[in-house]
Amino acid sequence: MEEKCVNQKVETETKEILKKYPKERSRLIAILNDIQEKYGYIPKHAQMVISEELSIPMAEIYGVITFYSRFTLAPKGKYNISICLGTACYVKGSQKLLDRAKERLKIEPGQVTPDGKFSIDDVRCVGACGLAPVFMVNDEVYGNATVKQFDEVIDQYMNK
Ligand code: FES
Repeated sequence: MEEKCVNQKVETETKEILKKYPKERSRLIAILNDIQEKYGYIPKHAQMVISEELSIPMAEIYGVITFYSRFTLAPKGKYNISICLGTACYVKGSQKLLDRAKERLKIEPGQVTPDGKFSIDDVRCVGACGLAPVFMVNDEVYGNATVKQFDEVIDQYMNK
């Protein structure tokens, strides 16, 4: 689909979502939640429509999206691998997990593999410090992780 068509679709759909809410900036988070749920990320064009309709500067919307970890600016893979680099996980070697993920999937955090299957996120504390080091595949948490275990889990998802 051409970019113009995609933008038009996003515009129409974002306006549909906006209709559910009063035109108040206090509704921004709820609106962004709906957009994130619909697309799996917050498309730039949706941000532009929100900015225009609610008279909120783009920079402010960008600030909110980047502040909350549940919002993302780019699509994620079918299997999103989050590696915790929070203090507890970091001191127990989670950087090695991240290095391994980058090496195996040949992408950087924030990127998606060309087949759309995997993406990597480096995150700060997922609230499971007692299990450090921790990584997640979508909502599934893997604790006390080793590079070997990480490899085995990735193998399983590669074969799905
Ligand atoms: S630092 Fe990794 S779960 Fe808290």
